[in-house]
Amino acid sequence: MQRRQFLAAVAGTGLAGFANAFEPSRLMLAQAATRSPDVIFVPTPNKVVDRMLELAKVTARDLVYDLGCGDGRIVITAAKRYGARGVGVDIDPDRVKEAIANAKAAGVADKVKFIQGDLFETDISPATVVALYLLTSLNLKLKPKLLNDLKPGTRVVSHAFDMGDWKPEMEDYVEGSNVYLWRVPPRKA
Ligand SMILES: C[S@@+](CC[C@H](N)C(=O)[O-])C[C@H]1O[C@@H](n2cnc3c(N)ncnc32)[C@H](O)[C@@H]1O
Repeated sequence: MQRRQFLAAVAGTGLAGFANAFEPSRLMLAQAATRSPDVIFVPTPNKVVDRMLELAKVTARDLVYDLGCGDGRIVITAAKRYGARGVGVDIDPDRVKEAIANAKAAGVADKVKFIQGDLFETDISPATVVALYLLTSLNLKLKPKLLNDLKPGTRVVSHAFDMGDWKPEMEDYVEGSNVYLWRVPPRKA
């Protein structure tokens, strides 16, 4: 199927944003932005992943983005457990390869995509849920993009690191880690 036919086929199905996330031009832009990671790979423990997805109340209608996705476990779990679709973004090509292999092994390769690129340069506007495990300094750098580019109502969950003066709607403590939930507020007029 031609790309234009594919986009036409998904228009109006709720999958249009998902399809847009994979436009080849956006993939190329993301790949061109590759540079050193801002933070090293440390995986979120599975029980913390579960709690992040619970706090965000992920369902099959969601498109979950993990910005700095590592081995892909957050979006893979969202797809496997809730039937959600997912997009993982990581600047490290080895992590992206690993995440793709893990998605295949988990049987959810049709539901998740992984993009090699800089999370600060990636189009995150189709997301309905965004997962983060970065650093407070990176969350603060990312905050304007979250507030400007995400749709109002989009849920943002973070493992361990907060957002400074953007106070969470909910927080929890699991397996020795804080987990935070925010909701993107309506735009100011
Ligand atoms: C602490 S790990 C979290 C992995 C995964 N999200 C999880 O919770 O299991 C952070 C990940 O962010 C990636 N990363 C760091 N800087 C990045 C950037 N600017 N753009 C995209 N990914 C980045 C790293 O390669 C690493 O895999």
